[in-house]
Parts: sequence; structure tokens; C-alpha cells
Amino acid sequence: MPRVVVFDEFGGPDVLHVFEEPGVEPAAGEVRVRIEAFAVNPLDQLMRSGASPAPVPLPHARLGVEGTGVVDALGPEVTGLEVGDPVIIAAIPDASVRGSYADYTTLPASRVFARPAGLEVIEAAAIWVAYSTAYGALVEKARLRPGDQVLISAASGGVGRAAMQIANQIGAVPIAVTRQAAKKDELLAAGAAAVVATDDDDLAGQVRRHTGGAGADIVLDLVMGPGQQELLQAARPGGTLVVAGSLDPRPTPFPNAPLTIYRYRSFEHTLDPVAVRRMAAFLTAGVRLGALRPAIATVFSFDDVVEAHRHLEKGLHGGKKIVVSA
Ligand SMILES: NC(=O)c1ccc[n+]([C@@H]2O[C@H](COP(=O)([O-])OP(=O)(O)OC[C@H]3O[C@@H](n4cnc5c(N)ncnc54)[C@H](OP(=O)(O)O)[C@@H]3O)[C@@H](O)[C@H]2O)c1
Repeated sequence: MPRVVVFDEFGGPDVLHVFEEPGVEPAAGEVRVRIEAFAVNPLDQLMRSGASPAPVPLPHARLGVEGTGVVDALGPEVTGLEVGDPVIIAAIPDASVRGSYADYTTLPASRVFARPAGLEVIEAAAIWVAYSTAYGALVEKARLRPGDQVLISAASGGVGRAAMQIANQIGAVPIAVTRQAAKKDELLAAGAAAVVATDDDDLAGQVRRHTGGAGADIVLDLVMGPGQQELLQAARPGGTLVVAGSLDPRPTPFPNAPLTIYRYRSFEHTLDPVAVRRMAAFLTAGVRLGALRPAIATVFSFDDVVEAHRHLEKGLHGGKKIVVSA
């Protein structure tokens, strides 16, 4: 019988358990995917603990917003896909019902796209959330162009690493921000053109030095909190701030700077099939060119999904993805 990870109450990793239930037949416009691997995201932790902004109906809630697998069944009216096609699942908004932590999930055909050749199953499970968020924030929102100097906070995280690779793919110049000078070499190796460490450097001064005095054209802030003020001082007047994360829970002063300011949530694009196709085309090209490749921290087996969540909670992944092999 197919397995699915469910939880009946909110709490720590131990509330997750494996349940066996029959797969669901796809309705019109839907496909069923046999999942080969799925990635664990901070959003899953929020849903499991009861801290998610979107309501999670209990009991028997599912988890998982991304993964990869093979098309196993087609519902009526589905075109362009065949049984056996390897696909990537693009973010599932109703993850508490259709979550990817399972052997099978059934979802609208518009939410899957062809798995790019050259991507391992484990990498394919981990590409969508981080890379679609970084792409959506930088390219769709901030209109990143070749030559732009882009300042990225939490650059060592999953979205930050994706943002650096995407900036390089476009021909822009990624400047990484980290709290720890010890991470400088690692970030340079991960694609940063320059690294500014807030425990060591004068952030605005260093960014001006790296940009010939001009300041950053685009700031991607994944942290918020009081540190955002320093990022604003490092931006070029008339530049763009796009806020896509909130790792620092402290209050954020109102951003009073001569910038265009956006708040980005990836669901504004991942609910739009046309935008998903555009994003998938960009990611597929980046994989083919060798510019985009997610960094994987650890791979767990399906039966160790509780351990995977403990690993996420300890923060030992260093921004790389945790993947569970189904
Ligand atoms: N907008 C969307 O749709 C969307 C989608 C996905 C994720 N997100 C959000 O984007 C943010 C980043 O996600 P992620 O998956 O990249 O996270 P992640 O991989 O867990 O990021 C880890 C890195 O962030 C930095 N960091 C952690 N806490 C911090 C703090 N309090 N202050 C400053 N830096 C901190 C650390 O880097 P250093 O130690 O090097 O400083 C750490 O290595 C999260 O807030 C997440 O919820 C948003």
C-alpha cells in the first residue's frame, strides 16, 4: 500500500508518522505522480508546528511543497504529458491535502513540468522552491539585468545560493552578505563576486567599494529586522529593494530610502500556469548550461522523515537542501 507522511496534531518532529492509504485517481486536468524524492522546507516546519500563516486542517494533514517523480496516471483532458514522464512538482499551495511527502500525489497537470536532463533525482527534488523564489524576486519583480550589482542577504541559505547562481546566469554581479566572516571562502566558491561579512565589515562602505562607489542596483533581503537599514544604505539611489524572507524575527524599521520597494511571495507566480512555464524554462536552461545546481546537505530515507525534520530544526544544513528519498 502507498505510504504518506501525516500528522494529527501540531508539535515537534515526532508528530509526523507514516500512514498507508490507496492513491487518489486523478480528476479532469490532473495527474498522479509517483514521487521519487521530496525536499524539506522551513514552511513544512511552520505547518507541522502550527505556526503557518495559512490554516492547516487536522487531523491527517499532509506536508511537502516540492518534489520530483514520474507521471503514473493521467486524468481526462490532460495534454502534453505521458505516463512515465519524469517531472518536477512546482509548489503545491494546498500541501496539507496533496503534500509531496508521500509515494504518490495527485495534482493539477499545470503544477508539474519536465525534469531537466542532467539533473539527478535528488537535485531535482530540491530545485523548485529556492530557485523559483530567487528567480521570481530578482527577475520577475526587480527586473534584474546583465551588469546589475545585486546585494543578497542570507546568501549562504538555500534561496540566497540560488539567487547568486541566477545572477551569474544572467550576467549580473552577486554580492553576498553573511553574518560570519568564516563563510567568505565558501560563498566565493558558491558564486559570489564579493562577500561582505556583517561581523567584520562596514557593510555600506564595502558595497560602495565593490561597486565603484555607486551602490547596489538591487537588494534582495531574505532577513529583514534592524539589519535592513544597513542594506538600504548600501543601495544606489533609485535602485530596488525586494524583500522575500524574514529570518530575523525582530521588528523592521520602515524602509525610508529613495528606492522602489517590493515584497515578494512566490505563490504570486506559482499559482499562474503561464508564469510557472516561464520559470521552468529559465531553470531548465540554467541546468542545461551548468549555471544552476542545488547544493544538497543530507539525504534521508522515507522512514527517517522525523530525523530529517530534527536536522532542519537544528539548522545544520547550512542553507543546503535536505532531501528524503521515497
Ligand atoms: N518569498 C517566498 O515565497 C519564500 C520562499 C522560500 C523561502 N522564503 C523565505 O526566505 C528566507 C530564506 O529561506 P532559506 O530557505 O534560504 O533559509 P535557510 O537556507 O535556512 O537560510 C539559512 C541562512 O540564513 C542566514 N540566517 C539565518 N538566520 C538569520 C538571522 N536571524 N539573521 C540573518 N541571517 C540569518 C544564515 O546565514 P549566515 O550565517 O551566513 O548569516 C543561514 O545560513 C526565509 O525567511 C524563508 O521563509 C520565502
